[in-house]
Amino acid sequence: MKTKLIFATNNQHKLEEVRDILGNKYQIVSLLEIDCREDIPETASTLEGNALLKARFIKENYGFDCLADDTGLEVKALDNAPGVYSARYAGESKDPAANRQKLLRELEGKDDRSAQFRTVIALIINGKEQLFEGIVAGEIIREERGTTGFGYDSIFVPKGYTETFAELGAEIKNAISHRAEAVNQLKHFLDEEK
Ligand code: IMP
Repeated sequence: MKTKLIFATNNQHKLEEVRDILGNKYQIVSLLEIDCREDIPETASTLEGNALLKARFIKENYGFDCLADDTGLEVKALDNAPGVYSARYAGESKDPAANRQKLLRELEGKDDRSAQFRTVIALIINGKEQLFEGIVAGEIIREERGTTGFGYDSIFVPKGYTETFAELGAEIKNAISHRAEAVNQLKHFLDEEK
């Protein structure tokens, strides 16, 4: 039987990426599918803290084994901002286009455009909590390029490539991304746990 895990998100892009990377041994269920429509608090000051908050919220209120991810874009010339505040960088409306525009403005005139995406996944399974981390280094380009993906994908070029995540497409992104690295660790852990 497939291991069933609630993924504490309704972000369709994240769901597809995680399902794609984990493969069909695992049934990854979204919040909507368990009829959870609450805005789960993300009030911690670290990615680890927020991932744990989200996973514990689901375990405590719905009782399911689950996972949650929190991701930040850490830009060197901005002292690692927006980091844990990446979703609301340009304001509480969490508008991805406004976030990208603000980041491009903040980087105007700066030579060092290096950055990294960092994802932390919190897993709660069989009464235990585990954390997994994935990082991909790259740089922020000067204008948006590409149409796939989401969030900051159209302004981030991963190291070793010349195209943005939004130009590279799902297959390459899911082979090399921050989320892929964290999910592969998660997969390894789950395979051992069984
Ligand atoms: P959160 O993990 O959903 O809180 O995401 C934080 C912010 O980073 C949001 O603005 C997302 O759109 C963005 N984000 C998360 N993961 C990715 C990604 O894989 N690529 C580009 N942007 C992302």
